[in-house]
Amino acid sequence: MNKLDFNLEKFVGLRDIPKEYINYVCGHTSYEEFILSGAEVFLIFELALNKYFNKKFSSLDNILDFGCGAGRLIQFLLELNTNVYGCDVNSTLINYLKKIGYANLYKNNFIPPLKYESNFFQFIQSFSVFSHLAENDECIWLEELFRIGSPGCIYFITIHGEWVIQNILSKDEQSIAKTDGFLFKNVHTRSSWNKKMNFPDGYECSFHTTDYIYKNWSKYFDIIDIIPGDGSQLYQDSYFKYQNIFKKIRPMGQDLVIAKKNNKAVNS
Ligand SMILES: C[S@@+](CC[C@H](N)C(=O)[O-])C[C@H]1O[C@@H](n2cnc3c(N)ncnc32)[C@H](O)[C@@H]1O
Repeated sequence: MNKLDFNLEKFVGLRDIPKEYINYVCGHTSYEEFILSGAEVFLIFELALNKYFNKKFSSLDNILDFGCGAGRLIQFLLELNTNVYGCDVNSTLINYLKKIGYANLYKNNFIPPLKYESNFFQFIQSFSVFSHLAENDECIWLEELFRIGSPGCIYFITIHGEWVIQNILSKDEQSIAKTDGFLFKNVHTRSSWNKKMNFPDGYECSFHTTDYIYKNWSKYFDIIDIIPGDGSQLYQDSYFKYQNIFKKIRPMGQDLVIAKKNNKAVNS
């Protein structure tokens, strides 16, 4: 296979997206960067699906993008001939995506439950949501994502992990993160004039060590691997077949936790 499952030129649906929506999810206002970074993450996820599960997105049914934001990633999933769902706490973004024709989206509350039935999804992805939740909120959301995943459901969840801890945090913060395994920092200021585009209260910045993930997330999932934020281990061999589209895939920044629903009950 020399081509991706998608054609970048097709992604004109979001061409008129207001810049403040891009800014909310990406922290910048470049449309090209919004599309390209989404395509890069989609490609990294596709490579990981292939490497760890010998699967492609198009072979999965009932996919959820939890915290889908302004559609940066879900736009690629929606091109596949499969059932794709998305949810986010931001009603402005969800209403916008629905208005331009994206189906199966809904606005959830900051805390669970989601409206989906138990054991429904084969694949759940969440980019840059679990890198921002307090420990207690994280626990209840992991439990909820566990509930709605079908047996063997695959989870791709990004975090600020070892790669970010080493490259972003101060020495003092690194030391706290390493001792406790988890660090939560208040980082967001919220606008008083544009409340619709504020992050929800409680959405700040969290950092996890690899040990913490294996110890605490194993209650819900079999942790298959944690891919460092530079992603390079994934595309050493395979990315050359994509070089007609990507000259170079840039780091995702966030570490990617690759997990699978395990058979154990959450509280056992
Ligand atoms: C940094 S943005 C990333 C959006 C999208 N995943 C992407 O990669 O472009 C984080 C998103 O998480 C959403 N969010 C925050 N807390 C949430 C929650 N409890 N449930 C669902 N979405 C949440 C925010 O509204 C925002 O759209």
